[in-house]
Amino acid sequence: MYNIIYVILCAHRARIKVRKMEKHYRINTYGCQMNVHESEKLAGMLEAMSYTACGEGERADVIVFNTCCIRDTAERRALGNIGVAKAEKKRDPNVIIAVVGCMPQQQSVADSIREKFPYVDIVLGTRNISALPSEIRRVLAAREAAKKRYRCFDLNQPEDYLNIDEGTPQTRTSYPNAWINIIYGCNNFCTYCIVPYVRGRELSRGMDSVLDEVKRCVDGGYKEITLLGQNVNSYGNDIADENVNFANLLHKIDAIEGKFRVRFMTSHPKDLTEAVMDEMAASSKICNNLHLPIQSGSDKVLRDMNRCYDSTRYLSLIEALRKRMPDIGITTDIMVGFPTETEQDFEDTMEIVRKVRYSNAFTFIYSPRKGTPAAAMPQIPYAVKQARIAKLIKEQNRITKELSDQYTGGVYEVLAEDVAPKYEGMVCGRTDSGRLVTFDGGKDDIGEFFNVRINASRSASLFGQKE
Ligand code: SAH
Ligand code: SF4
Ligand code: F3S
Repeated sequence: MYNIIYVILCAHRARIKVRKMEKHYRINTYGCQMNVHESEKLAGMLEAMSYTACGEGERADVIVFNTCCIRDTAERRALGNIGVAKAEKKRDPNVIIAVVGCMPQQQSVADSIREKFPYVDIVLGTRNISALPSEIRRVLAAREAAKKRYRCFDLNQPEDYLNIDEGTPQTRTSYPNAWINIIYGCNNFCTYCIVPYVRGRELSRGMDSVLDEVKRCVDGGYKEITLLGQNVNSYGNDIADENVNFANLLHKIDAIEGKFRVRFMTSHPKDLTEAVMDEMAASSKICNNLHLPIQSGSDKVLRDMNRCYDSTRYLSLIEALRKRMPDIGITTDIMVGFPTETEQDFEDTMEIVRKVRYSNAFTFIYSPRKGTPAAAMPQIPYAVKQARIAKLIKEQNRITKELSDQYTGGVYEVLAEDVAPKYEGMVCGRTDSGRLVTFDGGKDDIGEFFNVRINASRSASLFGQKE
């Protein structure tokens, strides 16, 4: 008996020893899919340095905060958690803390991190994340050699940024989906938005390097490719060769052999071309699904937002899409409470939502972002914004439910993407049109396509059974 206890104790101690010798990292990611994918690159870099991932609450040697500043809420959440990391640093001064991404790319935020969070070791802007390994080495070398502190603040925007996709190891975490960046930055300067200030000007990857990455992912067993960019429709505008454009890229990806799906986000309505819609309709791999942010239904507000389209142009796009693809699932982003939005402007938004009948909408309360033109305009009281968003969500939920009900009884091809978090013995995935379906299955089904008969719907979710 004692022998057994002794063996267990030794094994336990050995495990603790191995755990102590291993180096661990944790990445906290905030914001959009672009950030989620950039965290896969950060993870790849750290694993190439022999760090292994660890969960929340476990001791980490390196903690990275990959931040977002699109709205005040995103910024506050990240700042709160960076504040909590102070306790970890206090417990173990050897922990390296890095803050990267959109938030510190704003000089005022970088300055305040310098002052208020002295325990943060490394701060990198949106185009410097590939410097993480070398900066970690510098922090470690300074501690060892001089027993002094080295802090890095690198917010430059180097020209060779695109190398990040060629040379950087990646640890993909979203199988069977693979995120692939095709264009960085944004040139649009919507008056409410911080992205062009923190992500810099548009920079497209070469077509061959994107196609290579798609092929590698498909060969590696990925079943869904999601092309990423703040405005994928501007892909290639900064490249002299006129054959490098989004429609041609879709055409070439569609020609790659294998059974896989293609989605992309985000499309700016001002740049969505007939050629792109034609490619979507003709292709067997590009999903019948489009995320087309409208932001507002009021022409005056759209003008003030500098969106460069009006409600008539937007509705004509919806018509052109549905003419080509009657079953297309269309989703959108809508913002309420932009400074110049009157009650009538908001009603115009409600009206267009009823006209388009989106399968789903991401709704946001306008949040003033320092340095953007809209932040300097007189603001609408928060209670008014809240009342408007509640009304909008209620209307959209009604439409989503009506559209969901139309799926019941039908059979749809669904890619099993994950085990269903709330239902045992079930998996979840999406239809070609982007609808979330929960159906019978297990871990081994992930990455496989199934024909699923829909037998119930609940708001945006559908429930079904394999045929
Ligand atoms: N490039 C994409 C959007 C990226 S940001 C596009 O142009 O569609 C994602 C969404 O966040 C936007 O569509 C917008 O609805 C919302 N958003 C951007 N800035 C915001 C702000 N200051 N306050 C609230 N929502 C904002
Ligand atoms: Fe922001 Fe407009 Fe650029 Fe989208 S297109 S990232 S909303 S500035
Ligand atoms: Fe946020 Fe930056 Fe994306 S501000 S939404 S993480 S581009």
